Amino acid sequence: MSHVMTIALEFRDSRLANEIRQVLSAVDDVQIISWLDHVGEKGPKAVKTLPELILLEDEPDVGAIGARVQTIRKNFPDAAMIVVSSDRRPERVVEAMKAGVEEYLLTPVDAKGLAAAVEEVRARLADAGQISRGHVHGFISCKGGQGGTFLAVNTAVALALRNDRDIALFDMAFQTGDTTVLLDVKPEKTIADISHNIHRLDVSLLKSAMQRHDSGLEVLSAPLRPEEGDDIQPAHLKVLLELAQTVFHEAIVDLPSEHIGDHAMEVIRACENIFLVTDFSVTALRDAARLHQLLLAFHLDGDRVHFVANRYTRGDSVSVDEAEKVLDSKFFWIFPNDYATAISSINRGMPLVQQAGHSPLGKSLQSFAEKLVNPRIFEKFRGVRGMFGQVV
Ligand SMILES: Nc1ncnc2c1ncn2[C@@H]1O[C@H](COP(=O)(O)OP(=O)(O)OP(=O)(O)O)[C@@H](O)[C@H]1O
Ligand SMILES: [Mg+2]
Repeated sequence: MSHVMTIALEFRDSRLANEIRQVLSAVDDVQIISWLDHVGEKGPKAVKTLPELILLEDEPDVGAIGARVQTIRKNFPDAAMIVVSSDRRPERVVEAMKAGVEEYLLTPVDAKGLAAAVEEVRARLADAGQISRGHVHGFISCKGGQGGTFLAVNTAVALALRNDRDIALFDMAFQTGDTTVLLDVKPEKTIADISHNIHRLDVSLLKSAMQRHDSGLEVLSAPLRPEEGDDIQPAHLKVLLELAQTVFHEAIVDLPSEHIGDHAMEVIRACENIFLVTDFSVTALRDAARLHQLLLAFHLDGDRVHFVANRYTRGDSVSVDEAEKVLDSKFFWIFPNDYATAISSINRGMPLVQQAGHSPLGKSLQSFAEKLVNPRIFEKFRGVRGMFGQVV
């Protein structure tokens, strides 16, 4: 679940700058910008893009490294800094570190050390919620009524309740628009208003069309009447999600069940993860496998498409193994069946993660949300446990 990190290089020595560029070209998800003539010292107005990391060449004749670092840090308080220097004197290193750089790397630059330092900065910024370019996650039921909307809503609320990121839910199932029912919100504006004003869409217009749920989640509802969805063009959804990624850390999208039209395809292209929701019935599994094939036929990167099983009951006539054989893939997550709690939460308009957060389904939903933002956890656990507590 990557994020493209912008790295500014403020280097006078072009040979050294090229060497650094070469190393960084092997690091995933970074974009490099060059800062000439000490624009870092001039401030944010002198640059086009705000970097998340600044790599600074130590130029002894320009002055004390500590003072330079402090000036640049003042200008770009949200950016991390790494100094690259040929000066090995301990007092120089201490001066730079005291001024707040993350790393002091000596020339010739060790490629592995630089790549590791960049990854460390990325992880730290992500933990601090400072990375602004968000992720989009889409939910599609492979057959009507598999629980796609229920899972999208509860995942979004579980993320919002963590209280450390800005989370949005976009209802792009225009015909049904069920998310408002599950959240008990009464939208005054919807995605149709965004679409009508797409040419002047900015952050304030987007936010003014969204409803705030008491969990902290921001929701953009589907059109109030299905026919209002007719004016929404696929290109509008692209623009909308691009903007949303600059405002929210995580954007969850509820997509229509079964049918992948041009609108859904536009959303899917913007998604970092697409969750195909199925239960354990043979027909749903078959539909899931077909939908998967369809997405791959659209040249979608298979790593982004995940199967999610819903309504698992131990001892089901179709086992997890058998289901995975039909799909020819492993499930990313398996949600337990709990119809009574699920339906009561829907009827009360209170998401299950709020109403019954301690139930097995509530806990599974929270763990799934956790995995979404922290993919390294739960390497084995996939949402349910077997009779003896073992992972399924
Ligand atoms: N894990 C679960 N256990 C039991 N019931 C569930 C579970 N998940 C969802 N449900 C139930 O499944 C029903 C359908 O859910 P939902 O509306 O989210 O499905 P959908 O796939 O979005 O349907 P649609 O095709 O209408 O978009 C709801 O009544 C919900 O209570
Ligand atoms: Mg739905």
